Amino acid sequence: MASTRSAVPQTQQSQPVLKIVGGRSLSGFIPVSGAKNAALAIMAAAILSPEPCRITNIPRLMDIDTMSQVLEALGAKVSFGEGWLEIDAGSIKSHKAPYELVSRLRASFFILGPMLARFGMARIPLPGGCAIGARPVELHVRGLQAMGADVRIEHGVVEAHARKLKGAKIYLDYPSVGATETLMMAATLAEGETVLENCAQEPEISDLAGFCRALGAKIRGAGTKTIVISGVPHLHGTEYGIIPDRIEAGTFLIAGAITNSSIVVGPVLIDHLTAPIAKLREIGYSVEPEGLNHLRIGPARERREVHIETLPFPGFPTDMQAPFMALLALGEGTSLISETVFENRMQHASELNRMGADIKIRSNHAIVRGVPFLSGAPVDATDLRASAALILAGLAAQGETHVAGLQYLDRGYDRIEEKLCMIGAELHRIGTNPVLAPV
Ligand code: UD1
Repeated sequence: MASTRSAVPQTQQSQPVLKIVGGRSLSGFIPVSGAKNAALAIMAAAILSPEPCRITNIPRLMDIDTMSQVLEALGAKVSFGEGWLEIDAGSIKSHKAPYELVSRLRASFFILGPMLARFGMARIPLPGGCAIGARPVELHVRGLQAMGADVRIEHGVVEAHARKLKGAKIYLDYPSVGATETLMMAATLAEGETVLENCAQEPEISDLAGFCRALGAKIRGAGTKTIVISGVPHLHGTEYGIIPDRIEAGTFLIAGAITNSSIVVGPVLIDHLTAPIAKLREIGYSVEPEGLNHLRIGPARERREVHIETLPFPGFPTDMQAPFMALLALGEGTSLISETVFENRMQHASELNRMGADIKIRSNHAIVRGVPFLSGAPVDATDLRASAALILAGLAAQGETHVAGLQYLDRGYDRIEEKLCMIGAELHRIGTNPVLAPV
């Protein structure tokens, strides 16, 4: 009797999946979009100005759509064009962000600082945890309190008031990206000088500072551990271009590496990729600048095992941990990956193991024993960077891989299948576009 069982598991049958036909060699140039995390913070910062702001090099992503909806829910006008968007926050009337949007996009919590700075009040639901960790916000809250704000958390909502924020000296217990951004934005319109110590130094912080300076803010030291902001009475409109996405660029470098191909990735700001480039070279790949702002990755003659520890910038980025795990799963030697930024960010390991990888998780460490080949399988993405890792593994695997959980992928990668197909990969989206899922 013929079997009625499908090769595709039940969980994948009704949802869209990305089918990847593995084993294709890649070649040519793959373009990098604007940085998601810089764009989201800069969109929040547009609230600081009552005049329109035009932001260019905007990636096409669901997270950008959700952030636009948050701004519109406050009363701002948002218009989109090819690669740009314009935000007119002059018409903001509401100080309350809707829970259904904030719960979809943690970064929408970043509106707290600018709302408080410009309007003296904000009501933002707590974003809560997500698949990769608990993600508390006490550093944002304590910093705003140090600037004189009355911040209460009641019934899951952060309610903040301040007639006028006052400059303060604030030490962050941990160099949180989000807290540094919240406090830097809040301080731009505060009375007097704010000194933020032990800040995050991620390139997205410098980009946000660049945008705020273009609005007329006075900020020094962004990109270092100490940021000094001298408050000004008001800010004006501007036009500003977002930096290239270093995590997308890193993901594409690994696409080249994992398929042992030679490809060119750009535009990139090479200094933003120091740690991932160092690790690729340590494994054995050639990574060389091409022109001013492109990188060429070439095949490895032999591959070495490495130890990777995720750290705040300029350390190895936690957002590149999952893609590197896919790369290290294939090959020789035993590598060690330690995740120190988020407490639950290794769920992709078990999915990679379903493709034949040999990865053992011991608390926040992954022991990755390289295997000679991976085999295509149906797999489920558990978060944004996990989805990238599974696609990368699928590019190198024998046979077909079906990646489900595309609602995560679409939040943070701008037309990834189209871009990978441009350099010779074979990917097909099967099924309709997914609806947004909670983070
Ligand atoms: C941002 C990035 C995310 C990246 C992360 C670390 C955006 C939209 N997202 O997230 O892609 O993975 O930086 O590079 O820019 N923490 C606290 N208390 C706080 C704030 C943070 O304990 O008040 C902890 C977090 O739980 C986490 C660590 O600090 O364990 C790092 O978080 P943070 O740097 O704040 O990351 P995000 O800004 O959320």
